[in-house]
Formats: sequence, structure tokens, C-alpha cells
Amino acid sequence: MDDKLSSPNQFKEQLNKFLKTDKQEIIKSLLDSNLTGRGGAGFPTGMKWDFCSKAKGDKKYVICNADEGDSGAFSDRYLLEDQPLKVIFGMILCGMVIGSDEGVLYIRGEYPKSIEAINGSINELKKLNLLGDNILGTDFSFDLGICIGQGAYICGEETALIASIEGRRAEVDVRPPFPVTEGLYKKPTVVNNVETLAAATGILINGPEKFAAIGNKKSAGTKLVCLDSFFNNPGVYEIDMGTPMKKIFNEIGGGYKEPVKAFQVGGPLGGVVPLSEIDNLNLDFQEFTAKGFMLGHASIVSIPKDFPMSEYIHHLFEFSAEESCGKCFPGRLGSYRGKEMFDQVKNKTAKIPLKLLNELLVTMQKGCLCALCGAIPTPIMNILKYFGDEMKNDMVKDN
Ligand SMILES: Cc1cc2nc3c(=O)[nH]c(=O)nc-3n(C[C@H](O)[C@H](O)[C@H](O)COP(=O)(O)O)c2cc1C
Repeated sequence: MDDKLSSPNQFKEQLNKFLKTDKQEIIKSLLDSNLTGRGGAGFPTGMKWDFCSKAKGDKKYVICNADEGDSGAFSDRYLLEDQPLKVIFGMILCGMVIGSDEGVLYIRGEYPKSIEAINGSINELKKLNLLGDNILGTDFSFDLGICIGQGAYICGEETALIASIEGRRAEVDVRPPFPVTEGLYKKPTVVNNVETLAAATGILINGPEKFAAIGNKKSAGTKLVCLDSFFNNPGVYEIDMGTPMKKIFNEIGGGYKEPVKAFQVGGPLGGVVPLSEIDNLNLDFQEFTAKGFMLGHASIVSIPKDFPMSEYIHHLFEFSAEESCGKCFPGRLGSYRGKEMFDQVKNKTAKIPLKLLNELLVTMQKGCLCALCGAIPTPIMNILKYFGDEMKNDMVKDN
């Protein structure tokens, strides 16, 4: 993201250009770039905008998902605070393309500086007629508002996020219909992650070729990666897709301050990658998935060598039990049953019946309404696979 859209003058110049650009050309650029959503699900962004532009509706919305709840993730925060114009520009272009005059930034309340930075930019752009009614004298109007999240992880899930903006209880909805046809207030809506919108801005300003030339068709361009404080050089880095993970960890991250044995990549629903597998992985969405992990939003949380894995699993079940929206049985009850099993290990009152645990994990994977409780089995299964030896004293084989 070398081309900071850092001044309102640059913003005006670029916006002037795009106000005269054919909408289909904008969609084509995004499709040609192979940009996929950076929020975790990885849906092609050009396709999402295209679907919404074709959806019928007297009113449409653009939502920027800035709820960034994944543990270890702070890349959206960096963009909101350091490059707010890039995020807003992406929302305006999306509005132009889909035919929307209103956008909402859903920003987590724990990011007061992000809210301040975005608010400041909105006010400045409004004064310059770069936002609001009849932008730069054209018939295109687009306004932006901020909705402040209150710290529920589920509110990052797009249908729960929409419910939250509408003032309903933040529960996940069954899809279809997808938000592109029936979203906020049942109107066609694009929900995009902060990084996706900033990347779209860069692609549209620079042309799609540069982005598409990095990585491969399904994992193209660059990705912001967050390294936690176990690395000698913690921070957020923009890294080319396809870069070997060992280079990211050892060269960019500078290795580890303390001995580590695994990493949770992509938030609480992402995989737990043992240290031994790092040499076999590149920064690539499909590669992570093929090996049973998930790259997701690419936050890296290190697991210290002496941290008991049964305690880590307990934490994961406890997290989903706390954060589940409660709508589906497998999520609501499954998370609690899992937590109870590992309470017993923690209290040394019982061992885990392995078959029962596996059945619980498969039920959650198959039966949950969304990825909160449906994907929490991924890191747990990774731990059972790679740290079976460490955990064997906590388990009993049942029939
Ligand atoms: C439990 C849960 C939490 C999520 N949290 C976020 C989040 O904080 N930010 C985000 O952009 N996407 C999050 N997502 C993914 C969104 O539902 C959605 O796929 C994304 O915002 C779409 O934007 P994109 O296409 O630009 O990635 C979450 C999904 C789930 C299941």
C-alpha cells in the first residue's frame, strides 16, 4: 500500500477521475486484480460489487466491517488510523458502482483513535464536497456514518453486524439471501473488510496488473500480516502473497524472544500451526486451507513452548461459549459441553473421552450456523493432530 492517498487534494483529483469512469470498467479492474476479501471468507471483491450493482433495490448500502475482533489482529486499526482516506475512498467507489448513497463504518469501540481519525476525515471531506450531496457538482451523492461496536466478537460476522446496526440482537442469519441482495434494512448491501476497501483503492488507482502479478490467481496481491510480541520485531507488515512463512517469521519478524511451539494464525477460528509446519507453508489462502489451517485475516498469535495445549483448547471452547450468539444449538450447547470437558481436565477430575470429543467437534463443524462455533473445531483438531503426545495423559480412548 505504497501509494498513500494522504491528502484531500489527491483524494479530489482521483475522485474527479473516477466520477467520469464507466462503472463496468471499475468492476473489471477489480476482477482482473483477483482481489479476494481480506476479512476471512475470501470472496472475490469484484464479484461482490458486481452482484450488488445488479441487485434490484430503491436503496443500497455500503458497509465497512471494522469490528476487527480476531486476537492478535491490528491491521485494520492501522489502516483506519494511518490511511483513513484510502478506506473511505474505497467505500465511495463501491457506492458509485453499486448505486448507493449511504455507507456505514462499523468500528469496534475499543478503537477510539480509529473512530476519531475516520470522523475527522469524514468532516474534512464533507467540507470539501468530496462526501455528501452532489459530490463535486455531479448527480452522485454519498454520505457516511459511524456505528460503534460494543465488543461482541459475533458482530464482525456480516449478518450479525447488520442486525446490530439495525438495533436488533446481534444474531447470525441464515444465508441465502446474502447481503448483496438483502442486507441492511433488507436492501442490497456490500459488506467489505477495511483492508479489502483499502486494497481496492490501491488497485483502482494503480491499475490491476501490479496486484495480480503478485502471488497467484486465488491468493493475489499483498496482505497485511500482524506479528505478536513474541517476535523480536512485532508489528504489522505488508507482505507479498506467496512469501514463505519462515521468511516472514525469521527475517521480517526477526525470530522469537522466547521458545514457542505453535502459532494460531487467523484469529480464534484459525488453525493452530505447529512450529515444525512453518517451513512447509507460504502466505497463501489455499495452501493454508489445504493443510487443514486457515490464513484468515493473517494475525499471528504465538503459543509459548511451556503453555499446556489442553489449557489452550479450554480457552477456545470458553471463547466460543462466551461469544456465541446463541442462535444455533450446536454452537450454543456444543461450546459449553466442550468447555465442561476441559474444565474437568483443568481441575484434574476427569480425562477427555476422545471419541466423544471428536463427535462433538464434527457436529459443531457440520451443524453450526456460522463460522464462530463452526470453525472453532479447526484449531482444536489441529492441536489433537500435532500435539497428541503432549495431550495423551489428558485423554482416554472410549468406544
Ligand atoms: C464470527 C465471525 C467474526 C468475523 N469478524 C470479522 C471482522 O471483525 N472483520 C471482518 O472484516 N470480517 C469478519 N468476519 C467475516 C465477515 O462475516 C465477512 O465475511 C467480511 O466482512 C466480508 O468482507 P470481505 O469480503 O471484504 O472480506 C467474521 C466472520 C465470523 C464468522
